[in-house]
Amino acid sequence: MEEVKVGLVGLGNVGSGTLAILAENADQIALKLGFRLKVAAVCSRSVHNKDIPTSLGPVLRTASWQELVCHPEVQIVAELVGGTAVAREVIDAAIGQGKSVVTANKELMAACGPEIWDRAIRAGINLAMEASVCGGIPIHAVLREGISGDRVTALYGILNGTSNYILTEIEKRGAPFDTILAEAQALGYAEADPSADIDGFDARSKLALLAALAFGEKITPPEIFVEGIRRISPMDFQYAHTLKHTIRLVGAARQTREGLILSVRPALIPQSTILAGVQGAYNAVWVKGLYGEDTFYYGRGAGARPTGVAVVSDLMRVAREIRSGSPERVSPFAHERLGEYKPVSVTLQKRAYYLRFRVDDRPGIIARLAGILASKNISLESVLQEPCDTKHDLPFVITVEPTTEQSVRDAVNEMSQLDFLSEAPLALPMETAL
Ligand SMILES: NC(=O)c1ccc[n+]([C@@H]2O[C@H](COP(=O)([O-])OP(=O)(O)OC[C@H]3O[C@@H](n4cnc5c(N)ncnc54)[C@H](OP(=O)(O)O)[C@@H]3O)[C@@H](O)[C@H]2O)c1
Repeated sequence: MEEVKVGLVGLGNVGSGTLAILAENADQIALKLGFRLKVAAVCSRSVHNKDIPTSLGPVLRTASWQELVCHPEVQIVAELVGGTAVAREVIDAAIGQGKSVVTANKELMAACGPEIWDRAIRAGINLAMEASVCGGIPIHAVLREGISGDRVTALYGILNGTSNYILTEIEKRGAPFDTILAEAQALGYAEADPSADIDGFDARSKLALLAALAFGEKITPPEIFVEGIRRISPMDFQYAHTLKHTIRLVGAARQTREGLILSVRPALIPQSTILAGVQGAYNAVWVKGLYGEDTFYYGRGAGARPTGVAVVSDLMRVAREIRSGSPERVSPFAHERLGEYKPVSVTLQKRAYYLRFRVDDRPGIIARLAGILASKNISLESVLQEPCDTKHDLPFVITVEPTTEQSVRDAVNEMSQLDFLSEAPLALPMETAL
């Protein structure tokens, strides 16, 4: 049986998962392809301490990615290093060698995917990146091919497993954010520096890639409003539940009359919605299409083996193309601004909002806050207060009727000056229409 030969740069979580699948599932893969995927070379800084499955046969081990990329037998290079420095050099060198690339790198693809794609196409090779978004959920293939005939009107996602794990643990156990974060770090679910996950930047890179595919628009991460989950506390879940909602870090891309509104932020979503059922480290993407209506995709967003499946499936697709002589490729990036889906500021979004306050209680507080809301033409919908044993740090919630984000920001800025507040109000949009 003939072979297509691959080289893996990076043997960390994803690289080791990919290697294990290529070894353990080699016969199934060969049956599906009609030829074998052979691992010709592997690379990592500490390659000589890594266990390479013996069933793979002879494999070149090297600590030099240059050696792997230039190895005459390697036809496809899998970049599983991460970051934007070495990874970029590996990919550029592979393209320079006329070798197709498979990558799991959302950060690099979101920052400069379109120019890398252009280079790859000019060089006549392929660039596959399924693993870069939502690990084991084949959402790239869905948007690129499965539902590409639809006209997407909105995409909502739970795109970061660490944040979702933390939020759902706060919800289940009523423990504070810092306690759950420390536990998540001890369990290996959160990095020592958790910022990329809990401040929303990881989800923002993923949303940039998904929205570009879904809307055929050029989107860069800085065009996406981002807010993390650090301020979410057990009492927010208590109030959200009273309102028959829950709280998730939602990546949203929505077509509106003004343009495309993009955000990654904690939001209240109805408990009855399918997204609210996404627990723990799972990811989900919900796509609304004009013709096909709602479709929903759910699975493990990270992890060695689920992400390894995405890498191996990409390797299989690219290997098929190499064997069959490279058919038409579907660009995962748009190259021009079409206008219709131009990203616009999140301040234009109109939503109901949840405003949570912590105050040093005294008479007249509600009247002051209601006065500020009225001065911004915001209509108050409800005031909620759970029993509390202190008057000095008293939480309560006001919900307001749909209004623009700009009005809410103006109101929150003015409220933040009030001397009875122990911290700035927390404002979360309520995605009641989901
Ligand atoms: N972890 C996940 O679940 C997941 C899910 C989806 C996507 N991704 C993406 O997958 C990529 C890899 O993530 P990961 O979690 O597998 O990272 P990781 O565990 O940190 O592994 C990185 C690997 O790259 C190797 N490496 C780093 N610099 C190198 C260099 N200069 N030369 C050769 N090898 C080098 C490291 O070598 P040593 O082992 O010798 O240090 C290590 O084997 C990232 O882009 C990430 O965003 C990860």
